[in-house]
Amino acid sequence: MTLFARITGTGSFLPPRKISNQDLVTQLTARGLDSSDEWIVERTGIKHRHFVDDGVHASDLAFEAARRCLTAASRKAADVDLIIVATSTPDMVFPSTASILQHKLTLAALADGDTQGGAGGAAFDVQAVCSGFVYAISVANAMIQTGAARCALVVGAEVFSRILDFNDRTTCVLFGDGAGAVLLEAATHDGDGPGILATDLHADGKYRDILCTPGTVSGGAVIGNPLLQMDGQAVFKLAVGLLENTARKVLEKANKTDADVDWLVPHQANIRIMTSTAKKLKLPLERVVVTVDQHGNTSAASIPLALDHAVKAGQIKAGQIVLMEGVGGGFTWGSALVRM
Ligand code: UT7
Repeated sequence: MTLFARITGTGSFLPPRKISNQDLVTQLTARGLDSSDEWIVERTGIKHRHFVDDGVHASDLAFEAARRCLTAASRKAADVDLIIVATSTPDMVFPSTASILQHKLTLAALADGDTQGGAGGAAFDVQAVCSGFVYAISVANAMIQTGAARCALVVGAEVFSRILDFNDRTTCVLFGDGAGAVLLEAATHDGDGPGILATDLHADGKYRDILCTPGTVSGGAVIGNPLLQMDGQAVFKLAVGLLENTARKVLEKANKTDADVDWLVPHQANIRIMTSTAKKLKLPLERVVVTVDQHGNTSAASIPLALDHAVKAGQIKAGQIVLMEGVGGGFTWGSALVRM
């Protein structure tokens, strides 16, 4: 009998302010920049994204997603002994968004009359940009498999609207804000039951410049550009090959093949990247979960947002095998193969 980490609940949250392509095109036009709804839909598949209001942070979105996730799993904050938040847009330099989330969950539990509040387990952030969620779920899985944790809340939460350059039409139309969460709990079985079957993570820093937000805080000032910059074509070309590689590796590690995959839940960056990956894996498009049209690229939040959508819609069912995969700044990429 082996120790597995199984997904016992999912949750997600999009901030209420919905921005259409046309809303952004109008803003760009006012700045003398040309764009159109047709261009954005055709090149990316994106129709809307959601932006937070002033004063709303990644931990606020994470909190809403986490609460929904705990409800879905019939668990309380006090049951959680590990919180990992994947984010590149944290509330502050430190403490971690995970620590802030833990405090918010504890306060909410106390307000709900649960005198236990929170469990006081470990809480930390993972920074791997759009691969952040697969990185975080891999770390949580390893901690559960070694007995270091039994009940892990893994969240992807982003407020990318804060780091977008609205004078750059090549990037500002692509990204949005949101959060998604899964609860991972320890389970013991002989390998046929639910759980994370394998994970696969990679990074190559030589590509660090093609997608970055290079600014930093020093001596009380922001040094360098604090806004996102990307060579979209370079990222696109690299992404398609890397996603196929990591998908093949994770299947091999789990002793599975393309044919065993019931659902592909890819990072939601661009519909063209998703369809290319599906084609390479010989997966029909009906088996690919696509939500990019609704929220754009929400970086580390996009995989759990798509996963929660498909679970709540009744598409992904218990016992099915789900392949999650992501690629992003760093360059980082990776995947997780899960039996639900
Ligand atoms: O989350 C991490 C991973 N990130 C990604 O996966 C993003 C990967 N990259 C992409 O998704 C695509 O490369 C983009 C969506 C960013 C761009 O699509 P593309 O088909 O590669 O377009 P392009 O960069 O080749 O640009 C084609 C044309 C250019 O004009 P010219 O030089 O042909 O005159 C761009 O300037 O489209 C122009 N363009 C726009 N036109 C209207 C770029 N942005 C816009 C825009 N509206 N918003």
